[in-house]
Amino acid sequence: MSRPSKQTIALNTRAIRDFRRRLLAWHDANKRDLPWRRTRDPYHILVSEIMLQQTRVAAAIPYYECFLRLFPTAAALGRARETTVLRAWTGLGYYSRARNLQAAAREIARCGFPATYEDALELPGVGPYTAAAVTSIALGKPHAAVDGNVKRVLARVAADNRAGQADADALLDTERPGDFNQAMMELGALVCLPGTPKCGECPVSRHCAAHAQGSVTEFPARRVKRATEQVKIRWAFVEHNDALLLAPPKPGGLWRGFWHLPEISLERPRLVARLQHGITFRDIEIEVYTGRVRRMPVACEFVPKTRLKRIPLATPLRKFLKDLEMERQA
Ligand code: ADE
Repeated sequence: MSRPSKQTIALNTRAIRDFRRRLLAWHDANKRDLPWRRTRDPYHILVSEIMLQQTRVAAAIPYYECFLRLFPTAAALGRARETTVLRAWTGLGYYSRARNLQAAAREIARCGFPATYEDALELPGVGPYTAAAVTSIALGKPHAAVDGNVKRVLARVAADNRAGQADADALLDTERPGDFNQAMMELGALVCLPGTPKCGECPVSRHCAAHAQGSVTEFPARRVKRATEQVKIRWAFVEHNDALLLAPPKPGGLWRGFWHLPEISLERPRLVARLQHGITFRDIEIEVYTGRVRRMPVACEFVPKTRLKRIPLATPLRKFLKDLEMERQA
């Protein structure tokens, strides 16, 4: 659950009404034509919101379209094999989102789409933001959705870094909650930008406390960045006829759900590549060695190269194999 917040925006009822009216009029005239705005199907909207949790709109669009071509209904996604789902998600990152989405789809296929915000919160991977976004957009439920963009807008309107859910709840237009939520997101994405906000184009600048003080760029306050952890690993690249020695996906570890090269020691190892890969708070440096296998590792398999396109591979391995293929063709 989100931390309960106190209201920090000091607008009276009349000003709030004016804020809503101006914001919605601006949104109606300026909103982008995005594929998830052409539907009311709650499952489709859930897919879009899960993708948009950590992915930019432009990057999410082709994935959204491809994903729904593969899995047009919750039942279709529920029935799919996890490897097929992960393959469709490859490149979006944060793969626990895909696993949770499939678990949510199974629930939806079994019990129907949740009719309330509270029920939506019970779905795997759905927190207060996603539950509010999906139920307001698809079902017209009056819940304010606060993501990073919206939080920035609120902090500026309030000129207070503590601004959050309570302020969004107070501003929400309960007659058009889905449009209001998307208008706040859109304002954050197109106008109330982090570095150089376009206050001259802002429909609600007259209600913005930071704008009145000339301190817009001071909100929100910068957060201290979490240090990244440096990780070094050694992969063994071993080919045999037309097969490649691979370690299968395992639940924990760095490559959850993805095949990767095994971390085994080789006889007379020779360095063939150095790869760099970043995941959340980790910088991973991978040295790839080739050589003779001392003892066949129990958990590994020789996988025919013709199968590689059909199984989910860890991103740095996919890149390595692509580079290798180009090199060998050259
Ligand atoms: N970011 C998250 N949800 C969004 C939506 N529905 N439209 C635009 N940007 C978003």
